[in-house]
Amino acid sequence: MAVELKNDLLLRALCREPVDRTPVWIMRQAGRYLPEYRATRAEAGSFMDLCQAPELACEVTLQPLRRFDLDAAIIFSDILTIPDAMGLKLYFVAGEGPRFEFPLQSPEDVRRLPRPDIAESLGYVMDAIAVTRRELDGKVPLIGFSGSPWTLATYMIEGGSSKNFSKAKRLIYDQPAVAHELLGKLADTVTAYLNAQIESGAQAVQVFDTWGGALSAAAYEEFSLRYMARIVSGLDRESRGRRVPVILFSKGCNTQLEALAASGCDALGVDWTISLAEARRRVGARVALQGNLDPTVLLADHGAIRREVEATLSSFGPGEGHVFNLGHGITPEVDPEHLGVLVDAVREFSPALHRPR
Ligand code: CP3
Repeated sequence: MAVELKNDLLLRALCREPVDRTPVWIMRQAGRYLPEYRATRAEAGSFMDLCQAPELACEVTLQPLRRFDLDAAIIFSDILTIPDAMGLKLYFVAGEGPRFEFPLQSPEDVRRLPRPDIAESLGYVMDAIAVTRRELDGKVPLIGFSGSPWTLATYMIEGGSSKNFSKAKRLIYDQPAVAHELLGKLADTVTAYLNAQIESGAQAVQVFDTWGGALSAAAYEEFSLRYMARIVSGLDRESRGRRVPVILFSKGCNTQLEALAASGCDALGVDWTISLAEARRRVGARVALQGNLDPTVLLADHGAIRREVEATLSSFGPGEGHVFNLGHGITPEVDPEHLGVLVDAVREFSPALHRPR
């Protein structure tokens, strides 16, 4: 028997159904700003050890929910698990972020890149999802996620983080056929990966296209959006009798909102460089919107956080279709107490924007 979902505000808002307050979750809500996360990570050994131990991944997924009245959990993992499963071997250098031991360096590397067996190489993510669903016991929905093909490709080609993506962008201009071969393989893999997450219990899924904004409008359409649309059309949109909403988050792509909304997704993540009022005017009849407080606001004092939360809520305005979030992930230097102020402010101010059910 499936456990009933006690708080389904997130799923309702993502489907633009009425809610009595605006649901809130925070990108990267499990992470280094929490001392208990740092303790569990130290216990695990390395970041990948943490991701690959389902009980520990479950523990850090639940940590932010013990502190804050959040309306969703997001499974603790990373977008770079896919390239790792494709054989690039992910590791982390302290203070420098992710690195691959075997980055893609030639068309031959792309040709040889396997489509991994998801159950075999990424089964630890599905196990973490199953354990976490059991522990959540229907308290709030669990979100699954993946990186977009383009964002994954940037890390795989650059070998890690990058400032200007010169290798990845050179590939799309010099050897577009090779780029398309890579992005096609990634799109197939992401689709299978997200469907496996849904089958294991993910109740909504988000695709992080963190570096979409590095591309020109034309290149974005050809090398990022097209592949995300292909993923959206290949996803299982219903599980155990309930719709599984799909959220696309393309950072720095506000000029592309209409095209993104036409992809077939249910909701768009929005960064803080556009007002929710304008985003809603442009695409709010078609998709829900998720965002979009500047993460830096969390470094300011309590009064400023409350004021900015209220401004974000009223920018979206009354009615359904808003999920409160930051416009990008929470940063490690945030004082956890400040996130509590944000979450409580959403609970306090948002009921006025909805009709009681
Ligand atoms: O949101 C959550 O709570 C779930 C966990 C999550 C992580 N990474 C954990 C993590 C999610 C959703 C991600 C997504 C992710 N990972 C993205 C897309 C989202 C975004 O913020 O743009 C990207 C680009 C990555 C790649 C990645 N992983 C980077 C660049 C880093 C280093 C980050 C840094 O701040 O140093 C990681 C490692 C990582 N992933 C950490 C966490 C908590 C920190 C690792 C540590 O514990 O040392």
